Formats: sequence, structure tokens, C-alpha cells
Amino acid sequence: MVNTEMPIPSEEEQQRSQLCKQMIADEIHRNNRPISFERYMQLCLYAEKIGYYESASEIFGSKGDFTTSPERSNFFAIAFAEHINKIKHQLGTFSIVEIGAGSGKFAADLIQAMNRNGCMPERYYIVEKSAALRQRQKLCLSGLQSECDIEWLEDLTTPIDCAVVIANEVLDALPVKLISIEDNNLLERCVTLDDSGDLQFVNIPADDSLSKAMLERLPKSVLGATGERYECDVNMLLDNFIEKIASFVNQGIFFYIDYGYARSEYYHEQRSMGTLICHYRHVANEQPLLWPGLQDISCNIDFTALAEASARCGLNINSYSTQAHFLLASNALEKVITHNQDAMTLEQQSEIKRLMMPAEMGERFQVVVLTKNIEFASNQFTSRDMLHRL
Ligand SMILES: C[S@@+](CC[C@H](N)C(=O)[O-])C[C@H]1O[C@@H](n2cnc3c(N)ncnc32)[C@H](O)[C@@H]1O
Repeated sequence: MVNTEMPIPSEEEQQRSQLCKQMIADEIHRNNRPISFERYMQLCLYAEKIGYYESASEIFGSKGDFTTSPERSNFFAIAFAEHINKIKHQLGTFSIVEIGAGSGKFAADLIQAMNRNGCMPERYYIVEKSAALRQRQKLCLSGLQSECDIEWLEDLTTPIDCAVVIANEVLDALPVKLISIEDNNLLERCVTLDDSGDLQFVNIPADDSLSKAMLERLPKSVLGATGERYECDVNMLLDNFIEKIASFVNQGIFFYIDYGYARSEYYHEQRSMGTLICHYRHVANEQPLLWPGLQDISCNIDFTALAEASARCGLNINSYSTQAHFLLASNALEKVITHNQDAMTLEQQSEIKRLMMPAEMGERFQVVVLTKNIEFASNQFTSRDMLHRL
């Protein structure tokens, strides 16, 4: 069950949300038909100046809406630095490409940890869609630009010879389509306006490409069921996203970290409400039409779809594991304990535990490691590979 006791947004936030809602309503009026949920999510998260990631408001950490692993502890970046250190000889000269860098904290921690290891990248590319977050990241990293050549890109358009690509909690922020299956009918859940001008869901028959995608993904037990309504979600943008990044990297390794499931679990007949989730000031809820532009809206990852998309664009799938097994395989814990334990506060120690505990972020978050034109042992990045589950 998710907590639905939403804190009330400030006057200023409510006004911003109203602008976002108006923009959505204008588009529905202009088109004279409902918009897909994918488009709704796109506008809520990324509309210029008023979308969730485009506004200047606090999003990350205890004062924001949610806390990602790198926001929780610099141990996350330290573990990455250790993994990279172990493969640096195979990589030769390499650049880091961080996609969706949030507050910039991961980049700052990673650059410092790599510097301590004497293993610096030729360049650190940050590929960030949000103009507001690019500004914020520049501020956060201003003190490190003399140590590391950092370049910001809105989109990856520069071919890179050898790259270590890292994307933590980025795929979950890609807009998704919502589906409802009622009496064997595949319907797309779209967004429209009711008589009083409020946003509401409306279901329309799924088009051919959406129907095809769902027939490939849903089990027979769901497709053939009668009576009960089944709702789910699908990321139709994933293929392009993975393909585009891969196409600009001549040789390299890609780390995608996110929360989600293998397909059999993702589209399980008992998961009948889908996996979309919203966050506002650390309160999780399932009401994406509430306060457009103020809430984070995200969706779990179908890791089987990620593996399929990767294989389609010629990437090799090295491993799939829990975040806990990925972090442990870096051997960073031993290093941190040997050098720092006495200097660490109890809170810092407990944050590291939270990254790894199964009931916290250790199992819910998973890591897919992909490679292009370079090979690494499959047990290099995890002590427990779960590739067979995909
Ligand atoms: C949930 S936040 C995660 C931030 C950070 N990686 C972390 O772990 O704290 C998602 C980030 O991805 C960015 N983003 C979303 N879609 C993107 C895209 N297509 N290209 C680049 N960045 C994107 C957002 O603007 C934001 O910085």
C-alpha cells in the first residue's frame, strides 16, 4: 500500500502546477482529442521551465521528493570508481558518459574517488536533458573543473572512442504508455478533460504498434482473462534511447541501474495495477493526475525489454544483478572499512547499509551491465548473476 497523505503544495507551487495543467489542457483542446499518458508524462516532467525536472525547485534528497543511491551515500560512486579502476587497463584511454546527472553529486563523488585512485577519465561528459539541472550540476561541480575536463550535452551527439556510460535512475524517468485490458480488449489509457475542466483518464482502443508490443509482453493468463480489469505500463521509448546512446560509443561499457523486474514478474497476472509511481516530498502515491508538474512520475523497468533492446542494437549483455551484489563485487566496502571506518559517523555507516540491504535498496535496485566491442568476465561486476531470469 502506498501512503496517500499528500502534503499541501505552497501557493507558488500550486500556481506553477496550474500553468502546467493549462499547457496540457491547451494541447488537448488544440488536438481536439485526448493525449496519450506518455505525452502527459513528457509535459509534466520536461515542459520548459514548468515541468518537474525543469523547475528550479528542490527534487533530490531529504528536502526534496525522493533520495537516489548517490544522494544517500558517496559509497555508491566509490564502488563505481573501484569497478572502473579494475578494468582501466583493458579500457585504455576512456571517457565517462553520465546520463541524467540529477544534482551532480554522483559526478562530484566519482571524480574525487577516481582522482584518489589515480584513474581519471580523459573527459567527463554529462548528458542532461533538463536545462535547470544542467545549471545546478555546473554549480555543484564548479570546484572540480580544474581537475577534470567536464562537458555538458543536452543530448549525446558526439561520437566517443571509448566510454564508461552510467545511468542511475534515468530509464525510470522516460515517459511510458498506460494500458488497460478489459474483457479481452486492449485499451490505451489517455488523458482528457472532464466537464469542469479537470484532468481525467479516458480509455481508447490501442493502436497497432501498442497492441503488438503488448501481445509480445503479456502472458496468456492476462490476455485471456475475463471479468477483472488489468492495468499495466510499457516503455515504448526504451529501444530508441538505448540504441541512440550505443550508436555514439565506438567501444565501451554501459551501466544501467534502476528499479524494476524481469518480464515474468513485471507483467505477472497478480500485478494488476501496473508499476507507475509518483513521489511528492517523500510520499509515494498512484495519482499521476494530481498536481501536474509538482510530482515525480516514474515507472519500473522491464529488464527483459532492456536486454532485448540492447541485443537488437548489437550490445553484449555482460551481467544482470542486484545493486547489493554489484556494490559488493567492487570490493569498495573492504577499502572503506580499512581506511575510513573510525572517521565515519554511524549515520554514514547506516546509509551504506541502506544501499545494500535487501529490504532497502539492495534488491529493489538492479544493475544491467552491457558492453560494445570489448569483453569482460561475467563475474567481474557481480558475485551473483541473474541473467537467466531475463
Ligand atoms: C531520477 S533523476 C536521477 C538523477 C541521478 N542520476 C541520481 O541518481 O541521483 C533522472 C535524471 O535523468 C534526467 N533525464 C531524464 N531523461 C533524460 C534523457 N532522455 N536524457 C538525459 N537525461 C535525462 C533527468 O533530468 C534527471 O537528471
